[in-house]
Amino acid sequence: MDQNTLKKSAAEYACANFIHDNMKLGLGTGSTVTFLVDALGKRIKEENLTITTVSTSSRTKRQAESLGIKVVDLNDVDELDLTIDGADQISSDYQGIKGGGAAHTLEKIVATASKRNLWIVDDSKLAEPFGSFPLPVEVLKTALHQLLLKFEAKNLNPKLRLDENGEPVKTHFGNLIVDLHLGEIKQPHELGQYLKSQVGVVEHGLFLDTVNTVIVGREAGPECID
Ligand code: 5RP
Repeated sequence: MDQNTLKKSAAEYACANFIHDNMKLGLGTGSTVTFLVDALGKRIKEENLTITTVSTSSRTKRQAESLGIKVVDLNDVDELDLTIDGADQISSDYQGIKGGGAAHTLEKIVATASKRNLWIVDDSKLAEPFGSFPLPVEVLKTALHQLLLKFEAKNLNPKLRLDENGEPVKTHFGNLIVDLHLGEIKQPHELGQYLKSQVGVVEHGLFLDTVNTVIVGREAGPECID
């Protein structure tokens, strides 16, 4: 089975088992979430469900609205019942790295506004060591050079993320992404605190003590870890 089939199976399992009528639902970003939004659009039509969603990117918002899913601004909602999102890497104690799609700041804001968080992933996302996926950090453009110097001095191996045309990738908020090529993150809480305390850092992609449930797409079928 290829990774997309596994992502689809995790997304469809989450849609069938974790979404209920009248929910306020956060929608993540990425290829796995695309399968979720497709399945959600189908369920809403077939079962005439009333679901209000908040989106974590313009990509997800466009897709959801094209399927007739109601999308509102986070500022119009006090609390979300559940957010379903993908992840780039998950440690054995369920800490996460997100931001491969440069959407982690908005994803973290929406996750923080949610009573529960569920991640849908294919089994490659549980690879060891944690931190082998480069850690995304959203930074203000003005602070880029200073932050690169600081991160280099701390041996965090920073690289400005470029698109396929060699241009800096811009986030939803118009900021830049620096990826930290660490190889392994042994103390994620300490690293998260350090990054958060640097002036010019908007948000890092460590999602610590965030997730309540993980659904892993596996060859044998979706595994639900609560
Ligand atoms: C976007 C993210 C995504 O959730 C993460 O990159 C997973 O993407 P995919 O489902 O395409 O593997 O954090 O910023």
